[in-house]
Amino acid sequence: MPRQELVHTIARLKADRGAIILAHNYQPPEIQDVADRLGDSLDLSRFAATATEKTIIFCGVHFMAETAAILSPDKKVILPDPKAGCPMADMMCAEDLVSVKKLHPGAVVVTYVNSTAEVKAETDICCTSANALAVVNSVPEGKKVIFGPDRYLGAWVAGQTTREMILWQGYCPTHQKIYPDEIDELRKVHAGAVVMVHPEVNPGVAAVADVVLGTGGMLAYVEKSPARTFIVGTEAGMVYRLQKRFPDRTFIPASERALCPNMKKISLEKIAKSLETLAPVITVEPRVADRARTAIRRMIETT
Ligand code: 13P
Ligand code: SF4
Repeated sequence: MPRQELVHTIARLKADRGAIILAHNYQPPEIQDVADRLGDSLDLSRFAATATEKTIIFCGVHFMAETAAILSPDKKVILPDPKAGCPMADMMCAEDLVSVKKLHPGAVVVTYVNSTAEVKAETDICCTSANALAVVNSVPEGKKVIFGPDRYLGAWVAGQTTREMILWQGYCPTHQKIYPDEIDELRKVHAGAVVMVHPEVNPGVAAVADVVLGTGGMLAYVEKSPARTFIVGTEAGMVYRLQKRFPDRTFIPASERALCPNMKKISLEKIAKSLETLAPVITVEPRVADRARTAIRRMIETT
């Protein structure tokens, strides 16, 4: 089907179904263009919980749709491609977390939302890239923090807090494709550009950046910044998001290779099919969901 026809079909089916389309900032341009709401992980979860629509088409990766499903058990949360996972989330399993908790009795478990529902169920409080430092600082002084799965987000927070942190060793393969020497080269070509990077990057990359921010933070930063040109050190889909929101500024990806293959699994065809079939629905076993919800809600109440 030609693209325009698909877009019309999606709009018609969405109205028929009373559905809403949410999309993460890394989604391909054509998906961003049909979304009712674009955002970072935190924003989308919050929005999903307050939306009046009972059917949510979640264009992102599995943990994001799962988080929305946990927060909104009364809604149908559909992920157009159920294989759109997050390799970092898969680097931490609940059984291992339980073992580490036993080694550190009394430690507080802070888990990045890029994690499975089972891991969240073993967590005291979740965080996103937007609030990780604030969440860790909310842990009483003197208590150890077990932090996972992202070792780089963890190390970035550890460098700014007085809490003792035990770091899981997960990482995002996409963000590891961004290199400091490439940023140095881009700075030479674009004199005066501001370098913004995501806290999932390697510490060597964070060290050459002007600011370290989650995707929502990047949008807010550009809004207030007098700079005209920005080098963007995160998944390259963010460049389209920024460019569309700020057409009078220039955004350059720090690496064209930093593409998350899972984020790119969502397509207009799959969205249309999901609206037609109302599948695949993301569900979480109620016992797991109830415990995971407590950890997510604590985060929302803290920040
Ligand atoms: P944000 O919460 O900053 O949007 O990041 C989500 C993510 O998956 C980063 O790789
Ligand atoms: Fe996971 Fe990295 Fe993709 Fe984000 S960019 S969803 S952390 S693999």
